Amino acid sequence: MKHVPIVVLDFGSQYTQIIARKLREAGVYSEIVPYSESIEDIKARTPKGIILSGGPASVYAKDSYHPDKEIFELGLPILGICYGMQLISQYFGGSVIAADHHEYGKAKLNFEKQSDIFRDTTDGQTVWMSHGDRVETIPEGFEKIATSENSPYAAIADLDRLVYAFQFHPEVYHSVEGAKLLKNFAKYICGCESTWNMGSFAKEQIKKIQDQVGDKKVLCGVSGGVDSSVVATLLAEAIGDQLIPVFVDNGLLRANEREQVEAMFKARGVPLITVDATEQFLSKLAGVTDPETKRKIIGETFIKVFDEEAKKHDGIEFLAQGTLYTDVIESVSVKGPSKTIKSHHNVGGLPDWMTFDLIEPLREIFKDEVRLLGLELGIPKDMIGRHPFPGPGLAIRIMGDVNKPDLELLRKADVIMLDVLRATGYYDKTWQAFTVLLNVKSVGVMGDNRTYDNTVCVRIVEATDGMTATFAHIPHDILETISRRIINEVDGINRVVYDISSKPPATIEWE
Ligand code: XMP
Repeated sequence: MKHVPIVVLDFGSQYTQIIARKLREAGVYSEIVPYSESIEDIKARTPKGIILSGGPASVYAKDSYHPDKEIFELGLPILGICYGMQLISQYFGGSVIAADHHEYGKAKLNFEKQSDIFRDTTDGQTVWMSHGDRVETIPEGFEKIATSENSPYAAIADLDRLVYAFQFHPEVYHSVEGAKLLKNFAKYICGCESTWNMGSFAKEQIKKIQDQVGDKKVLCGVSGGVDSSVVATLLAEAIGDQLIPVFVDNGLLRANEREQVEAMFKARGVPLITVDATEQFLSKLAGVTDPETKRKIIGETFIKVFDEEAKKHDGIEFLAQGTLYTDVIESVSVKGPSKTIKSHHNVGGLPDWMTFDLIEPLREIFKDEVRLLGLELGIPKDMIGRHPFPGPGLAIRIMGDVNKPDLELLRKADVIMLDVLRATGYYDKTWQAFTVLLNVKSVGVMGDNRTYDNTVCVRIVEATDGMTATFAHIPHDILETISRRIINEVDGINRVVYDISSKPPATIEWE
């Protein structure tokens, strides 16, 4: 097994992959393994340090998750985050109790003692708390190294044994200097060097694809989005014409999207096959209103369409997808016991009847890292800068039943909103912008007439990886233009609202 500088044990936090991602930003490669990984397998990676993630469980609950206790005896530096802190406290003889209330949100971290883990960071920095339990008494040999208003033990450490524990989540965006704390742990406590970069990732993935595929063929679903374009480019580099790229028009695309995708691949000299499966998708979705059912139907139909296409070619043994980590974490538990938020259309493996193996080179990285990888592979900047568009397309942006007239209505509103955003320079400043057709009619007045028409919601968010997001603070005059143009130019819409929720607790898409 290859050397892995930091092993992250996953106890099911929604944020575990962000730990790995922040370490990558610091040039340190890490691997996330399930909390139950055997001590032999952990040792085989010859790590320089171990991080214990957060998680939804309580350490004192009957069926809580515990790692092999030997990890605490390896003599390696350990950092426990939230649930990981509670495990450390429990193992070394401290006590953990349920807090009076769930502490959720920003807190100020006040240093009690200088430590290398705080090096070059600010006393009083903002950190993000999200916990129900807390450490009541710290184990012998440990001392508190930082406090916050509500957490007397915001950070503790056994400085001799190099065991550190944070009650807060340094990995999340709202912990302003959290990435630095993780870097400090890797660099100064574990002694890791910064040797990892996107170039080394690309080389590794190309080699992995070549080893996996041999002389067989790979069918790759492309959507025109950044992810599948990066996957197709990686595959083209790795296996040349053994790649069969297929674009499925599922009838749920935005205005002119099919033409744009075809033109883009043509310009790059990649022989794209387009399959028009509009009727197949729309007939299956007719009358379906439950978001999860919609998502499952779309996922299954994609697989069927790809299977039918694959039968037309000899020697295809693999299916490649641009599945990202954000798709995975919210759909299934990747390595540990995390909770399902949404079933992303391309996650969860293939059905038993399918004989393909999956190739998913982006499964453990984030959107902004995919963009860096794309640039590394020479994909043009305007392509890389496209906003994400989900596989289930407009189906999850129409609340309730999906049908052709509503799809048309939504397309018209969407095009106008994007047009205004591009013209004002906000497209490139935001992570994602789209419209949602609400299943809500309201009364309006047009000229002297009463209208009773549809409502469209404009959703524009800022994010760095899609795991968390805030609604974009778009100037009111731009919102006004969007609203005015949609209502004036699209027959059937008489009201436009702006979504001012952030993720969490909302999600980016509405379904
Ligand atoms: P949510 O709505 O979960 O979205 O906050 C996070 C990011 O993921 C995109 N998304 C998807 N992408 N297949 C995809 O390829 C899906 O099923 C899917 N669902 C959501 C969403 O657009 C946002 O960028």
